[in-house]
Amino acid sequence: MHNFTFQNPTRIVFGEGRIGEVGGLVPPDSKVLLIYGGGSAEKTGVLNQVRRALADFHVVEFGGIEPNPRYATAMKAVEVIAQEGIDFLLAVGGGSVIDATKFIAAATNHHGDRWEILTSRGAVVKSALPFGTILTLPATGSEMNSGAVITHEENGAKLPFLSPHCYPLFSVLDPTVTYTLPPRQIANGVADAFVHVIEQYLTYPVGARVQDGFAESLMRILIDLGPIALDRPTDYEVRANLMWTATLALNGLIGAGVPHDWASHMIAHEITALNDTDHARTLAVVLPALLDDQRGPKREKLLQYATNVWGISGGTEEARIDAVINATRNFFETLGIKTRLSDYGIYGEGIEHIVAALQRHGMTELGEHRALTPADARRILERAQ
Ligand code: NZQ
Ligand code: ZN
Repeated sequence: MHNFTFQNPTRIVFGEGRIGEVGGLVPPDSKVLLIYGGGSAEKTGVLNQVRRALADFHVVEFGGIEPNPRYATAMKAVEVIAQEGIDFLLAVGGGSVIDATKFIAAATNHHGDRWEILTSRGAVVKSALPFGTILTLPATGSEMNSGAVITHEENGAKLPFLSPHCYPLFSVLDPTVTYTLPPRQIANGVADAFVHVIEQYLTYPVGARVQDGFAESLMRILIDLGPIALDRPTDYEVRANLMWTATLALNGLIGAGVPHDWASHMIAHEITALNDTDHARTLAVVLPALLDDQRGPKREKLLQYATNVWGISGGTEEARIDAVINATRNFFETLGIKTRLSDYGIYGEGIEHIVAALQRHGMTELGEHRALTPADARRILERAQ
C-alpha cells in the first residue's frame, strides 16, 4: 500500500427527517445563499423543508443551476453574493448543484480570472466561502469530497478542479428525498458510483486489502440494489444503502493509498462537453471499451474483479476477462443505459473532436501509469462505437 494522508472534514447527517436539523448545522447569524437547480427541489417539496428549517436565518435564493453546471450561471451567483453580503452557501440538489456551489464558494474569494480555478485544477484556490449541502441525488459523492466539474459553454470545456478548501461543512442525506428521482437519474447514480469505485480499484495490485475489500463490497451492493431501486423506488432500505454507497465510493476512503485511473472520466467529460450527454451515460460508453483496450496493464486487477465481484471462475484468463467486461457492459444496459458511442449520435468526426479537446485541455497523460495519450483515447473511442 502506498503512503497516504486521509482526512475528511465533512459531517454527514443521515436519515429520514433530518433536513429539519439544518438550522442547527448552519453557523449562527449566517447570511445564507440557498442554491438549487431547475425546479425539482421546488416540486418535490425539499426546498420548502429547507426554507422552514432556516426560518431564523437571512436567506437569499438562487435557482437555475443546470445539470452539467455552467460557469456563466455560477458567476451570476458570485455577483449576488457580493451584492447581498452572503457568508454561507447551502446547496440543495444533486452533483451539479453541489459542484456549482463549490465553484461559487471558491470564485467568491478568488480575485482575477475565475476560469483559472479550472485550468489550474484548483491550485489557485486559497480559500472559499463555507457551505453545506442537502443531497437529492446519490451519484457523484460531491457531498463528501472536495472536487467539482464545471462546464464553460463558450470554450466547449468541461473541467474538474479539487481543493482542500472545498469540502462541505456538512451534508444532509435523507434517502426519502430520492424517491422522486426518475428512473433515468436512479440508473445514472448507480452507474456513476460504480465507475467511481472502478477508477480507484481497477488499476494494479498494491496489496491494499482494506481498500480492495471495501471497493468490492460497494460494487456488489450497486449490482444487487441498482435494479431493485428501479423496481421499488420507495423502498427505504434500498435507497438508504444506495445513498451511503455512492457517498463512500468517492469520499477518499477507498482511494487512500492506492493508484487511481480516472481516464474514463476525463474522456467521458469531453463527450458531455460535446453534446451534453448525462455524465453516467458517457462513462458507460467509455469504461467497457477502455477495460478491453487496457486488458494488458490491468490484467491482475481484472481477474480479481472477475472473481470477487462477479463470481466468474473457470476457463482461461482471457475468457474470464472477456466475461467480466461483458458483465460490466450488461450491468449498465440492464439499468437502461446504452453503452455505444453511436447510441449518442457520435461517429468519426465526433471522435476527432473529443481527441482534439483532450489535447487542448492537457489530458495527455491519463490513467494509473500516466501512459494514455490522446491517440490511445482515439483507439478506445473507436472500440466504443
Ligand atoms: O435541476 P433539477 O430540477 O434539480 O433536476 C435535477 C437534474 O435535472 C434532477 N434531480 C435531482 N434530484 C432530484 C431530481 N429530480 C427528481 N427528484 C430528485 N430528488 O436530476 C437531474 C440531474 O441532476 P445532476 O445534479 O446534474 O446529476 P448528478 O448528481 O448525476 O450530477 C452530475 C454532475 O456531477 C459531475 C458530473 O460531471 C456532472 O456535471 N460530477 C461530479 C463529481 C464530484 N464532484 O466529485 C464526480 C463525478 O464523477 C462527476 O463528474
Ligand atoms: Zn463520475
